[in-house]
Amino acid sequence: MIRLDPRLTCAFNMLQGFDSVADIGSDHGKLTAALLLNGSCSRVIAGDISPECLEKTRQLIDRCGLRDRAQVRLGSGLTVLAPGECNAAAILGMGGELMVELLEASSDVAERMDKLVLQPMSGIEELRQWLYENDWHVLSDKLARVGKRWYQLLSVQKADRADAWPDGFPADCWLVGYRTFADRETGLPAYCREQLHKRQERLTKAIGTAGEEKLTREADQLERILKETEGWN
Ligand SMILES: C[S@@+](CC[C@H](N)C(=O)[O-])C[C@H]1O[C@@H](n2cnc3c(N)ncnc32)[C@H](O)[C@@H]1O
Repeated sequence: MIRLDPRLTCAFNMLQGFDSVADIGSDHGKLTAALLLNGSCSRVIAGDISPECLEKTRQLIDRCGLRDRAQVRLGSGLTVLAPGECNAAAILGMGGELMVELLEASSDVAERMDKLVLQPMSGIEELRQWLYENDWHVLSDKLARVGKRWYQLLSVQKADRADAWPDGFPADCWLVGYRTFADRETGLPAYCREQLHKRQERLTKAIGTAGEEKLTREADQLERILKETEGWN
């Protein structure tokens, strides 16, 4: 049994029901091992661009006796896979802009997946906007908290049109997920309150600077989402 923190548990849960999964940027290999030991997955391909990081995955696979069901592959993003080789993939713990680059570079692989699970460490707004503008359907968009830090995890699937924008969700808002809002995810009000507080604090020092307009717009969006969530049970 591999113990996972709430962030990796969230990704693990999103990947249940898939037989063949890729763990891209596998590093410590915990997700790879958990999918095979704790979950329903029969085969995992772990990829990483760094030989040292991939070696950590390989060692965990060996310690867990999973060599017959897990493969490690050195390379960038989804280039380590052939189209259709896995029916789902996780790309966790990288920047959102890099994720966009990886998806664009391997669109033939990415678009054939039944589910992609993405957890950006930064650039979440750029990633969300790119997914929306390129007709990726957001299946779920969840918040996971580890200690004081929040993580956002999206599961997506290529579609042939953009998602419908939920009523009451601010236009052009990528800070939090429109699916998070539409699904009334329980962590959303607390997350928005924290984010609003941070922006209000930053705004006190940003009056008259180039950053003022963006902070004001984001604070306004967060206030509007919070107002909408007031009626949630
Ligand atoms: C912060 S670790 C995240 C590890 C694990 N996915 C997690 O979320 O706990 C980022 C990993 O992504 C790998 N990485 C960075 N760029 C990559 C790329 N273009 N393709 C594959 N792996 C990459 C790094 O080598 C590192 O192992």
